[in-house]
Amino acid sequence: MECVIKTIEQAASHNSPCLVIPIFNKGTLSRPARQIDKASKGLIGTLIKRGDIEGKVGQTLLIPALSAIKAERVLLLGCGSGKKLSQGDFLKLVRQLLTQLAKHKVSHATLLLDELSVSGHDKGWMISQLACQGELASYRYHKTLSKPKPASRLKRLTFDGNNNKSLRTASHQGRAIAQGMNIAKELGNLPGNLCTPNYLAQQARRLARQHKKMTTSILDEKKMRELGMGALLSVTAGTEQPAKLIVIEYKGAAKSQKPHVLVGKGITFDSGGISIKPGARMDEMKYDMCGAASVIGTMAAVGELALAVNVVAIIAAAENLPSGAATKPGDVVTSMSGQTIEVLNTDAEGRLVLCDALTYAARFKPASVIDIATLTGACVVALGKHATALYSNQDDFAAELLAAGNAVNDRAWQMPLWDDYQVQLNSNFADIANIGGPEGGSITAACFLSRFSKDYRWAHLDIAGTAWVSGANKGATGRPVGLLTQYLIEKSAG
Ligand code: BES
Ligand code: MN
Ligand code: ZN
Repeated sequence: MECVIKTIEQAASHNSPCLVIPIFNKGTLSRPARQIDKASKGLIGTLIKRGDIEGKVGQTLLIPALSAIKAERVLLLGCGSGKKLSQGDFLKLVRQLLTQLAKHKVSHATLLLDELSVSGHDKGWMISQLACQGELASYRYHKTLSKPKPASRLKRLTFDGNNNKSLRTASHQGRAIAQGMNIAKELGNLPGNLCTPNYLAQQARRLARQHKKMTTSILDEKKMRELGMGALLSVTAGTEQPAKLIVIEYKGAAKSQKPHVLVGKGITFDSGGISIKPGARMDEMKYDMCGAASVIGTMAAVGELALAVNVVAIIAAAENLPSGAATKPGDVVTSMSGQTIEVLNTDAEGRLVLCDALTYAARFKPASVIDIATLTGACVVALGKHATALYSNQDDFAAELLAAGNAVNDRAWQMPLWDDYQVQLNSNFADIANIGGPEGGSITAACFLSRFSKDYRWAHLDIAGTAWVSGANKGATGRPVGLLTQYLIEKSAG
């Protein structure tokens, strides 16, 4: 989908398949509403007086064809009182607008929303959100359907506004984030028999081929054994699918600039292993690579925006299955860091692949390291599906990530990483156990990871609740590509 910004002086004479005009429920008509009203001999006033549209947030009314108006259709969009909208109301209005555009099969809409404002945000933010939501609406899953779903008809959004650099950048950023989210959604939605560790490696290679500043290297199991990645390898012991450690490097800034490292959990199917999961909803464990998917989606957005920053993506990709060769509860393995781990539950596999990837991350001398993982069911219990759980060993880093998430409506919530919880990981037979008991499961998982990320500025995002939605419309959400991309945009700004 394309986004265009230009100033539109006269709504009535503007040629477009669909003009979108704001209607306020108090005070005067908006300027474009006044122009249409005048050209159509008071039609807008009549519709409002009759109560056909009141101007409530998100309310819509389509006027199919008016002889006095150049545009093919006019969509009246309720925008509230005319005062600043809350962020929530604005996003609701955007969703309603896109639903209506899809329903009426609009290919190109011109949005005359210049008079709208949202509290706490500027015009650039509004345009980036519109561009983002518009692009997200174009996503369809069809890879494994024999009849593809009809594609989105929406090809272009034109925004009324001064076509300056800052608004163009805002629209580009919104669209790039959505493209990255759509890549992450597609990878998440693909079934485990197609989206294997090897498939993720191929996708990383494909992405790097599209961007001059991006390169990939794939470490196979032999290489991982040489590096001493006993924790990661213990997870892949029960499957025929070879594990991969996928490294993507993006060099957008001087060599002397330390890179920001993103580490993604890429369990392409999590059966639980010998500690096997119950059957109900086990299919959803194909999404256990959504951390990896968000890392790939973010790299795509970073490449698209050509950000002036260095980024390294590390994806720990493996499948967790039971077999005669699988790791058993009670087995002790040695991680790349040298710390030994008692595997009390083979279903706590995410932290086992991540801990070796985190140790590996140190060799890039990172400015910061963020790992992203569908790590614990306990996280879903604690925060539900709205907030990503955020942990960090540095509070100012946590604050930066929270702010980035707030800015793009991809929110996280900081959780405690207190030493008080660490004792739950004590083991009689190894340096550390891989589970911390039933209390505070998302926290003890973060505590486990913290033992492997002491030497740098580190944060952990548990996205078990936010990476996908269950139920009739189940599917991957593309989160937290927005938060991660926004963080890197801010890093590239200075
Ligand atoms: N991938 C799961 C976490 C998960 C569960 C994500 C539900 C999304 C929805 C993870 O590997 C796992 O199985 N975690 C265990 C940890 C436990 C054994 C300590 C869990 O949450 O039950
Ligand atoms: Mn598991
Ligand atoms: Zn898992």
